[in-house]
Amino acid sequence: MFASSTRNIPAVRAVPRHLAIIMDGNGRWAKQRFLPRVAGHKQGVETVRRVVGACIERGIEYLTLFAFSSENWRRPSEEVSFLMNLFVTALEREVGRLHGNGVRLRVVGDLAAFEPRLIDLIRRGENLTADNRKLTLTVAANYGGRWDLIQAFNGLALAYPEKAGNYTENDLQPFLAMSYAPEPDLFIRTGGEQRISNFLLWQLAYCELFFTDRFWPDFDAALLEEAIASYRRRERRFGRTSEQLPAAPDAVLPAPTLSTDA
Ligand code: IPE
Ligand code: IPE
Ligand code: MG
Repeated sequence: MFASSTRNIPAVRAVPRHLAIIMDGNGRWAKQRFLPRVAGHKQGVETVRRVVGACIERGIEYLTLFAFSSENWRRPSEEVSFLMNLFVTALEREVGRLHGNGVRLRVVGDLAAFEPRLIDLIRRGENLTADNRKLTLTVAANYGGRWDLIQAFNGLALAYPEKAGNYTENDLQPFLAMSYAPEPDLFIRTGGEQRISNFLLWQLAYCELFFTDRFWPDFDAALLEEAIASYRRRERRFGRTSEQLPAAPDAVLPAPTLSTDA
């Protein structure tokens, strides 16, 4: 089980171990180019491929991408269907490549709302890549932070009814959708909005936040590097004072020299 940032102070590394991204701005990217919104979503898949490569190069162990929120069903039905079809196509095309690159794929969210064909592709992709450890790529689909907390509390209450009234953080953790991952160290939101939009509410408790105006289809390895550099300059105190912090030896490591794109 991974340590909770509110119960134990996690080790601070020069490169985030877990990066979580809200991939926002696809629609506006397309609009700027006088293209339909969905063209932005299509281009966004290309960005995902690039960013997965860049994360592997940088030694990031967990990458979590918000692909479809529990509130995105409110969009026009044509856009929702396009996104579902895009998810199917992306899985069909990309899972083999992910597997070849040592990526473990996980999908978190309320999958019951998806078509059986999509659920089947997800399960097959997860099973195929289950033993890969270079990078764990989590796609949050029909995910909502509140949905996650409610399903976790319900799971916990059903499993240990006798402990009701005395549940602890450690009791809840195994029931959260991403119990297999440490908490994110760095959060990036593209597209200019500075909000969480019901993403990982529990897990972002002590995460470092980075916001950029760049639209997701234009996100690249250079901007990822900028986010990591910003992360590296932060003082992660977890409630302590500056004076209490240990000298972090890996915080002075030189930034890795890497190509600007993957
Ligand atoms: C993010 O881009 C993708 C999804 C939410 C599926 P948007 O579609 O939200 O793009 P904007 O924010 O309207 O530009
Ligand atoms: C957040 O983006 C969800 C995803 C990127 C999947 P939205 O575009 O849906 O967020 P809001 O509605 O602007 O907060
Ligand atoms: Mg948006």
